[in-house]
Amino acid sequence: MRYLLLSKDFKILVERRKDKISTHLGIVNLRNLKEGKRIKSHLGKEFFVVKANILDLIEKMKRGAQVILPKDIALIIAYTGLMPDWKVLDVGTGSAFSSIFLANYLTKGKVVTYEKDERFYKIAKENIEFSELKNVKLVKKDFLKGIKEKNFDLILLDLEEANKAIKIAYKSLKVGGYLVVYSPTVDHLLRVCKELKKFRFVEMKIVENIVREWQFEKTLRPKTKGIMHTGFITIARKL
Ligand SMILES: C[S@@+](CC[C@H](N)C(=O)[O-])C[C@H]1O[C@@H](n2cnc3c(N)ncnc32)[C@H](O)[C@@H]1O
Repeated sequence: MRYLLLSKDFKILVERRKDKISTHLGIVNLRNLKEGKRIKSHLGKEFFVVKANILDLIEKMKRGAQVILPKDIALIIAYTGLMPDWKVLDVGTGSAFSSIFLANYLTKGKVVTYEKDERFYKIAKENIEFSELKNVKLVKKDFLKGIKEKNFDLILLDLEEANKAIKIAYKSLKVGGYLVVYSPTVDHLLRVCKELKKFRFVEMKIVENIVREWQFEKTLRPKTKGIMHTGFITIARKL
């Protein structure tokens, strides 16, 4: 379990194996940390000890390829009705953000994830280790060369050539299982939709999630800056 030192305006993820940590708010003794405990730095600044969650960990992870953001993961979970015992396939791994996020909810299930590029494989491996999740299996392989594993409940495709991966994914999905394709552009989405029509998918939908954050410090109104478009999410169910 990972702990977080949370103060009014600062948070620190506690690294394992360290007895103390030096922060700009002073030195904090890390021995005998316990959830809910209130501790002070040598300068008298106060922190609360809380359990780090997946968002706290992901903030600290390395990014290689473009990642799927929590707002889009939320749609994937909501629109597929992800269950804790599902077997999920995530292609390609990239920085493993989507694999880690989904695996975090699979308390009885697992994620198998394929990455063909050595550079991203290394980043993903590091991030998966950092997450301390034991239910993510990282495979270094070109998915387009085919896979043997079958009966996945959910397959997520987030790669440039997603259209070429659909045929393999279809065979590896169980009947009633979901295919989700993440498309950053309309061109990508068009290629995906054209390919999807060749297979027996039902309940197909395309969604995107525009999240508008509001500011509340001085005046209450939408923030003038923020992330707008990230990707289109296509969801289809195998018949
Ligand atoms: C946009 S990234 C995936 C990001 C990931 N979903 C995340 O949230 O961190 C796409 C990845 O797919 C990998 N990839 C592309 N084609 C592949 C293939 N045929 N087999 C396996 N991985 C592939 C790329 O190397 C890249 O790392």
